[in-house]
Amino acid sequence: MTLLERTTASLPSDWYYDPAQYARELEAIWYRDWVCVGRVEDLRDAGEYFVVTVGDESLVVTRDREGQPRAFINTCRHRGSRLCTTPRGRFPGGRIVCPYHAWSYALSGELLATPKMELPGDFRREDHALYAVHVDTWGGFLFVNLDKRPSSTLAGFLGEEADNVRRWPLAELVSVRREVSTLACNWKIFWENYSECYHCPGVHPELCRVMPLYREGVLSYEDSAMPPATADAQNTRPRVAPGFTTWTLDGQSKLPLIEGPDAHDRALGVVFASFTASFFIVAHPDYVRSVRIMPKGPELIELTIDWLLPPGVAERHPAELEHMAALGRLVVAQDGRVCELNQQGLRSRRHRAGVLMPQEHALAEFHDWLRSRLPA
Ligand code: FES
Ligand SMILES: [Fe+2]
Repeated sequence: MTLLERTTASLPSDWYYDPAQYARELEAIWYRDWVCVGRVEDLRDAGEYFVVTVGDESLVVTRDREGQPRAFINTCRHRGSRLCTTPRGRFPGGRIVCPYHAWSYALSGELLATPKMELPGDFRREDHALYAVHVDTWGGFLFVNLDKRPSSTLAGFLGEEADNVRRWPLAELVSVRREVSTLACNWKIFWENYSECYHCPGVHPELCRVMPLYREGVLSYEDSAMPPATADAQNTRPRVAPGFTTWTLDGQSKLPLIEGPDAHDRALGVVFASFTASFFIVAHPDYVRSVRIMPKGPELIELTIDWLLPPGVAERHPAELEHMAALGRLVVAQDGRVCELNQQGLRSRRHRAGVLMPQEHALAEFHDWLRSRLPA
């Protein structure tokens, strides 16, 4: 990643609100890529379920009798009724029963019973199982892929970026706090804002106290006007301010260090793992924060933030949890405000496209990625 050397236009403004463009992006990206929908711990026992909507597609995510996570389209195979209407719960008797004519399905999706009817002789139950959706897990996170034949495995999708946080025991951590919010902006606006720190000095004064680099309006030492002399020094210099250890309002924490990260990880104070454009992890020596982005319409997203700790830590340090969460919540609220303002301004008929500044190079990469994913 290098600073942009020539004037580069941003995406056409109507890509941020045109329903047809939104539908193209759902098809090309959100219905093809792996999308994080929750934590494994959200489904403790067989038959527990939650409903999640990816784009316009409602899914039921459950755990079968063998303990395997399963995901299905939330549509009955008889005449297409919605199956589950409550956001989460448990299927009584381990059966998924349609509320319309009571067809019932196993937790593995097979059609079990079609009440009160003699079946036609040529009816084959196996042709009418629930529509299965690919599901896999990584680091205790549950992912689905709506493509019938995904072009990559989950591991392939996550790629080397997952290595950034490989020493954190993500699968063992538990979500001690989850906050869900909606923002009136297109999903790309949120990802673009996450991809640059040009806005940081003005929008995030508290975060800039913790992250001196951000006062320059850049995300990495590589982009700094005064970078450390060697690439090695760029990778090892602490990201948090001298004397600070983590992302809290005062840069301090009374939470125990998470076991796993090494001295170098800890010295950095913050490590990112970003998975375009639905999910990122911000890992600290004492806690981990994950952010999931879900498109809800051309101009609406849902954000789900989880704060993760090793088991038992929240119970032993209840007074510290608010301190842990306050900075991240503030930063997301600050970002949310400018994302919504960005969306509003783009609606002007006069504004056809904006322009990127040199330090917004990750946006240019994101735009190239997006264009490469869309049909010609
Ligand atoms: S639509 Fe589900 S049983 Fe009829
Ligand atoms: Fe921000």
